[in-house]
Parts: sequence; structure tokens; C-alpha cells
Amino acid sequence: MKKKKSVLSCIQPTGNLHFGRYFGAVENWVNLQGQYDCKYGVVDYHAMTMPFSPKKLKENAWDVAFNLIATGIHPHNVFMQSLCPEHTELSWVLSCFASYGQMTRMTQFKDKSNQNKEKGEDAFISTGLFTYPILQAADILIYKADYVPVGKDQEQHLELSRNIAQRFNNQMRKEFFVLPEPLFTEVPKVMSTADPTRKMSASAGEKHNIDVFGEEQRIRKQVKSAVTDTGETKEGEMSAGVANLFELLRAAKAMEAYESLTTDYQGGRLKYVDLKQAVADALVAISARFRERKADLLSNKRATKDLIKTSSAEIRKKAQETIKEVKELSGLLNVKFEDKKAPLFSFVSGKREYLYKKYGASSIKVTDLKKTVIK
Ligand code: TRP
Repeated sequence: MKKKKSVLSCIQPTGNLHFGRYFGAVENWVNLQGQYDCKYGVVDYHAMTMPFSPKKLKENAWDVAFNLIATGIHPHNVFMQSLCPEHTELSWVLSCFASYGQMTRMTQFKDKSNQNKEKGEDAFISTGLFTYPILQAADILIYKADYVPVGKDQEQHLELSRNIAQRFNNQMRKEFFVLPEPLFTEVPKVMSTADPTRKMSASAGEKHNIDVFGEEQRIRKQVKSAVTDTGETKEGEMSAGVANLFELLRAAKAMEAYESLTTDYQGGRLKYVDLKQAVADALVAISARFRERKADLLSNKRATKDLIKTSSAEIRKKAQETIKEVKELSGLLNVKFEDKKAPLFSFVSGKREYLYKKYGASSIKVTDLKKTVIK
């Protein structure tokens, strides 16, 4: 049987899971599992690049992992980045293969550091925010992923990952890293219902996104108050707000309602209340399914966390394999872990102890040491 191609993607534990993120990314991740060998990371190291609180960081990381599983990601495909700390070690090595010039052209860094400056009071910009794309390259390269499902905003980072991989391979004269390709899938682009000219996003504030795990009443209220006509629409054109509501219906696969309401629109008989009602019903139905699963996971919180820890440990093995080879290839030394089955003081460590003692404070004979070991 041919080996399945591998897919890797990650999500930052910041902000909530809203329908923009769900339809635009996570739902696609769920579907890709049928065709590829998938790994999905909750990247908590990445979430430290902007001002953060330690308590929230941990809470959000678990919450995101639970959300992913509730929406249909298989638990064995989920990992926590901080449980695979080799990513950060690889990130250092890769930083020595990343062009500084290219790093200074990363648009996400420019956008985020400007946003931070605009906020004023907390104008601190960390070096982590600057080097973040290298950690992202490590996330991808450490698993030798073939494909990375990304949106347009991440294309530049993926290009950087490929450049780093290529430079490493050239210098080591070995086709070691796989050059990851973007995996573009046609996904719905959902806009904010409060301002349909901007993307639905967590960072723009609560009213600009509809939480997948939100209370039914809240979802209905948000859809009900969706902006429809902004007064800027040309004659005969559908306004951005109405188009977004139709897009939501299509994304939610409420095709019957989508088609009959489209016919109403074309016939000039569309009532916005009907459209909104249909959108609210469709989103609430999806939400109800996921909320039920999340409640189930939460009532087995311990076990769910254990599951995620186990899958992270399993996924980590591959990361450890890669870093070991990277260190060998680049002339670094590898840490040898003690074999747990061997006696605590093996003969080798006995000898080491001996040399310490001999050249240190007092002298001790190897034979004496051996006695302590065997005892
Ligand atoms: N930078 C991505 C984002 O902001 C998150 C991310 C981190 C990621 N590491 C990754 C995405 C590796 C894909 C692959 O959304």
C-alpha cells in the first residue's frame, strides 16, 4: 500500500473558535483526515509572541484542543506544541538557515507589530513575534509534512519554510527536509455580520464573530442583527451583508433554504427576516451538535486530557527522530538518555564519577565504585 501523504496545520490558542475559522479552516482539516496522514497542533509557544497571561495561555490551549476534537478532529491527530518541545530546539537551528532580509519582509510581523503600536499602552514588540515564522517552519519541517492547508495570509510563511528547508538541504548535501507545499482548498470566506466589509475574526472584537460554541440565543441574536443594506450597494447588485448571509447558508450546507431564498431574491421577493431565520437555524444546528460533544468531553475532562497527552507523546517521537538527525547532520552532539532499565549508576557513569573524584576533591577507586553499583 502506498504511504499516505502527510498534512500538518496548527492553530494558535488565542481567541475563540468562530464560524469564520470553522468554515474557513477547521472543517477542512476534519475532511482531510480521510485522505491524508494528518497532524494538527495547538501552538502555545506561538501564543507567547503577543502579550499574554500564563493562566489564560494554559486554559486556552486545552480549550482549543477540546474544541478541535468536538468538531471532529480525531484525538490521535491532535498535539500540544509545548508537549513536543523539540520544535523550539529545531527552531534555533533553522534560524541559522533563515535569511534575515527575508524575515524583515514578513507582512504578518509588520501588521501585528503595527496593531500593537496602535493599541498604545502596550507597545512592547517581542523578538518572538519577529522570529515566529521560523518556529512555524520548525512545526512543519520537523514532521516532514508534504502539505500545509493554509490561507492566503500564511503563504509567505510557507515560502519561508521551503527556503529554509532548501538551504539546509543544500548545505548538508542531503535531501533531508521535505519542501512543504500549500494545500489550497476552496473554502467559504465568511465576513463579520456586524461589518460585512471585514473578515469574521476574533481579534476585531466580540461582535465581529459568531462563536461556534456560543449559546443558541446569542447566535440567533447576532444573526438577527446582521447588517444587510449599507446603502453603498449599486443598483442590481447584492449587498455585502446579504451576500455574506447567503455564503453562511451555503457554508452550513443548508442547500434547500439556499436555493429557495436565492429564487426569492431573484424574483425580488426576498424578506431579510426569512434569510436571517434560515441562517440562524443552520448555524444553531451545527453548534448544537458540537456543544453536545464538547459537554461530553468536558464531563470526562481528565480522560480527554490524558488522550491528548498520549497523542502528543506519540507524535513527539517523530519530532525527536528528526531533531536527532538534524543534530547529527549539523555537527551538534546528541543527548543520550539513560536507559531506564539499567541500574541507576551504570558502569560508565561510575567511571565518570571516578574521574570527577580523581581530578576533584578526593580520590576513589573504580573497584569501590563497582561495589556500590552492584549492591
Ligand atoms: N501562523 C499560523 C497562524 O497564525 C499558525 C501556525 C503556527 C501554523 N505553526 C503553523 C499554521 C504550522 C500551519 C503550520 O494561523
